[in-house]
Amino acid sequence: MKKLIRNLMILLTVFCLLTAASAAPAEEEAEKVTIENVREYIVGLDEPLTLKDGTQRPMINFDNAATTPAMKQVMDEVNEKLLMYGSIGRGFSLKSNYSTDIYQATRDKVLSFVGLDPKEYTYTVFYVNNTTDGLNKLASALIESSDDVVLATRMEHHANDLSWRERCKMVYAEVDDQGRVIYDDIERLLKENNVKIVTVTAASNVTGYMPDVHRIAKLAHQYGAMIVVDGAQIVAHRAFSMLGETPEENIDFFVFSAHKMYSPYGGGAVIGLTDVLDQHMPAFYGGGTVQLVMDSKVIYKDAPAAYEAGSPNYPGVVGLGKAIDMLTEIGFDSIAEHEKALTRRMVDGLKAIENIRVFGDTENLDDRVGVVTFDTSDANTLELATRMADYDGVATRRGAFCAHPYVWRLLGIPDNEVESFEGCDDYKTPGMIRVSFGIYNTEEEVDEFLEALKKEIGEIKAHNAELDAKSLWDDIMFPSY
Ligand SMILES: Cc1ncc(COP(=O)(O)O)c(C=O)c1O
Repeated sequence: MKKLIRNLMILLTVFCLLTAASAAPAEEEAEKVTIENVREYIVGLDEPLTLKDGTQRPMINFDNAATTPAMKQVMDEVNEKLLMYGSIGRGFSLKSNYSTDIYQATRDKVLSFVGLDPKEYTYTVFYVNNTTDGLNKLASALIESSDDVVLATRMEHHANDLSWRERCKMVYAEVDDQGRVIYDDIERLLKENNVKIVTVTAASNVTGYMPDVHRIAKLAHQYGAMIVVDGAQIVAHRAFSMLGETPEENIDFFVFSAHKMYSPYGGGAVIGLTDVLDQHMPAFYGGGTVQLVMDSKVIYKDAPAAYEAGSPNYPGVVGLGKAIDMLTEIGFDSIAEHEKALTRRMVDGLKAIENIRVFGDTENLDDRVGVVTFDTSDANTLELATRMADYDGVATRRGAFCAHPYVWRLLGIPDNEVESFEGCDDYKTPGMIRVSFGIYNTEEEVDEFLEALKKEIGEIKAHNAELDAKSLWDDIMFPSY
């Protein structure tokens, strides 16, 4: 009997403990962010805009290739880390030590993000404000003479063209009719010139094409050149490794901006071969870069310090690190899959609208990130994009997207004709409309966009028809002869 009572007591105790455990407030575990729920975590998506007709609605943001809104977790991390704000690498305080540790540790995170082993000394990360800043610093450091030859492609953003063009000789590999880089042309130019650096984008901001940069790396190395990859448009869209299948396919330098990956403006990084970086330095001088300054002599530090003159951008680096965590958590496979579905829906929807021309290969989208460009013979693209922003709350981009030579090629406008646009206003300068997706965009937004597009084309056509009728009437009533 005694034994039975004791067992009953034990059972009762276990039951009470279990009930208490389940009732106790559990440690609040952050919800895992996935491609399905990420929309809840993008800052400002529900912010209402007042449209020109007085109605209010949140914006459909299809301008993610320019910059992405911040993620809540990134914003929170930046705010939290500001509580322990201190001078980086210069101060003597616990806060200074704390922030310096985070600043330095984020370099390892960046290395892992691009497929590198932080324990290896082969590559070094230096921070920059954005891709343009990074490419200019790299060009400034690596170009030793105006006779150096850099090979770029006709697909490049101005950041990866002008940074080099203004400093040395350039040769450009052509693109084909659909806008893809011609690999044979790269090889021809490598054969014909003593190329020092090949520089190419990992994804175009105009067509979204992702050239095979590892194949290009192999070619560059075969001909004794180094390779720089502009990563601005790839980092928020696909997993990217600087390592190829063989060492010849490895990327030597990679540059990207954090504001295109759900962190606010200001962060960015260059990852490059340590021994090459250590042999050079950008023409950008000041505090933090030196070991000793004498009246007659300056002794500079090695990379990364030599590339980071001035007080570091701590919030930019914190945001960059957290953005990497968040994209990794969501997973690039699901990001790519989601983006492909949106791109297919948009391309097919656009093709179904009369007189719309979609640029690039619209059948095979496998080598494209979620960027779609188009124009129409029924409306001026500037007017159309403006109306869609003003009356439908849709954000796109219109113009030649800081990639003029590429856009003129896709539009079929030769250089001598382009010259005639000098001094023209934007309305008269040809341009396309660009739609670019982020992780939080939805198929419903694509459908809404297509409806708005049809409506605005209709409005513009009707308005133009009115103007034509009026001018015909004026011609009849008031002939100019
Ligand atoms: C392919 C590409 N490279 C470079 C840049 C320049 O980036 P940032 O403005 O962040 O310097 C951009 C910006 O849109 C881009 O799309």
